[in-house]
Parts: sequence; structure tokens; C-alpha cells
Amino acid sequence: MVNKYKLSTTSALVLLWSEAQTYPSKPCAEYFARLDLTEGEELLHGCNSFWKDYDQVIKNRKYRIHKELYNFVNNATTLPQVVIFGAGMNPLCLEVQSHFSDIKIYEVEIHQDSINIKRELIHEISTHPQNISLVCEDVANKDGVYNALLSSGWDPNKQTIVIVEGISYYAEEKSLWKALSLFKSKDRSNRIMFEYLLNDECIAKDRLYIPNGVFGLITTVCHIDFVTRYDRQKILKHLKKLNGQVLSFSNMKQIELERTGKNKFFPLDDSGWIEVCLARL
Ligand SMILES: C[S@@+](CC[C@H](N)C(=O)[O-])C[C@H]1O[C@@H](n2cnc3c(N)ncnc32)[C@H](O)[C@@H]1O
Repeated sequence: MVNKYKLSTTSALVLLWSEAQTYPSKPCAEYFARLDLTEGEELLHGCNSFWKDYDQVIKNRKYRIHKELYNFVNNATTLPQVVIFGAGMNPLCLEVQSHFSDIKIYEVEIHQDSINIKRELIHEISTHPQNISLVCEDVANKDGVYNALLSSGWDPNKQTIVIVEGISYYAEEKSLWKALSLFKSKDRSNRIMFEYLLNDECIAKDRLYIPNGVFGLITTVCHIDFVTRYDRQKILKHLKKLNGQVLSFSNMKQIELERTGKNKFFPLDDSGWIEVCLARL
């Protein structure tokens, strides 16, 4: 019998929500088969008690991020670099690599334990493990991120797409955007995919109890003492400072329609609380 890695409550939670179907490649199937997600089940049930369809939010956001990432890589003249902030146990690196074997991926994660498990699995599963670098750093520490990426081989002069998913709510706004300024390019050839939690004012009143319940529970269980929230104006303001340019804002209604062909869970523009912004940087 193969040894399975038991993940912590929070690392297991997103994987339970996203399910293996979000990562259809063979390496990701092998990756999922090596993980024991049971620690996350209690928190999953706690979160789902606020809204039993919460997995739809995670599947939608991942659908958008994966689609835009593949579009960008497919249309680039040479393979761009991929930087993933707060990657945790997300197997996106293996999924991307299964499509573009030579692509260079750099993950920035604060928890060394997750990195250790992921590194072992990547070495077992990936055909090109040397193309995936896992660095242990706080995404809100600009100098730390820069030095760690450089020493892992990231080239600031080469085209890069940076993915900020599942992390903006747990990072202090000013420091996070300072770190994101590292990806500013002269010709705006870089991209940022920024996923964020909306302010209460942007969310339908009859839905507010869901994000507030779920984030309230997660922050209690994980001892997180703040949650950073955004609206489109705030994102525009940060991007302007970096000479960035928004290519799209996607809400749950738009993504659900595109992903499933109908609006079952998100009938209105303000039915959701999570959005994804794609911008040039
Ligand atoms: C909710 S998980 C999201 C994982 C993945 N990005 C996804 O969306 O599937 C958040 C991850 O960010 C990491 N994290 C939290 N704060 C961080 C920070 N300041 N710097 C780097 N990583 C951080 C956590 O350890 C965890 O692995």
C-alpha cells in the first residue's frame, strides 16, 4: 500500500472543495491519490453548513484562473514564467506542466511543512521536477520574495504571469501590492490574475451571511486575525500605481454561465462574493 501524506485542516479544505476533477491530468490524479484529506472534513462540513454549494465558488474561480492562464501561455511567443503566490498544496503546477512540459513555475508559500510534502510528491510524480521551484517566503515581504525568486532562477526580464489565488484575503493589502510591484514590466507584457473577496457593500444582502460565516469560521479555526477585502475601485487604484491595465473583471455570475452553461447558483451580478481580475502589468 502506498504511503499517503496527511494534510493539515486548511490545506485539505481547498482540495476537498475543488475535487480531483478540477485537475484532470494524470500527474494530478497521482498527486490526489497520495494525499489524505480527512483532517479537512470537519471544517468542510462547518463551511458547507452555511451554504451546501460552497464548492461552486472554488470550482468557478479555478475554472477562470486555469482558462486565462492557458490562454496567456498559448498566445505567448515564448513560454512565459508562472509565479504562484500562496500556492499551498494546490497541484496547479503539475497540471500546467502536463500541458507545457518546459514551462518554469515558481511557487511562494509561507508554510515549510506544505512545501516539504509537495516537494517530495513533485519529485515522485513530475517528469521535469527541476522546472518547479518551491520557495518558502511571506508574499507580503517584497525583498524576501524578490531574493527567493531570483535565487531559484526566476528572470525579472522575462515575461511572467503571477497568480494570486486564495491568498489576498489573508495578506495585508499594502505589503501584498508592494510585492506585486516586482512584476511590473516596461511594456506591460506581464499578467496578474488576482482573486479577491468583495466588501459587504458589493454583495447581495441575502447572501452576506455565507461569506461572513465561512470566513468567520476559517479565521477562527486558523487563528487569523484579519481578512482583507476589495472592490473594483481599490483594484483599479493599485493597478494604476503600477501602470497596470485591467483586461477583465469576472464575477461568479459570469464565470458560472461560462463554466456550466447556466446560472443556477449565481443568478445576479451581486450573488457572489469572490471575483477574479486579469490585468496587464
Ligand atoms: C487558502 S490556501 C490557498 C491555496 C491555493 N492558492 C489555492 O487557491 O488553491 C492559502 C495558502 O496561502 C498560504 N499563505 C497564507 N499566508 C501567506 C503569506 N503571507 N505568504 C505566503 N503564503 C501564505 C497558506 O499557507 C496556504 O497554503
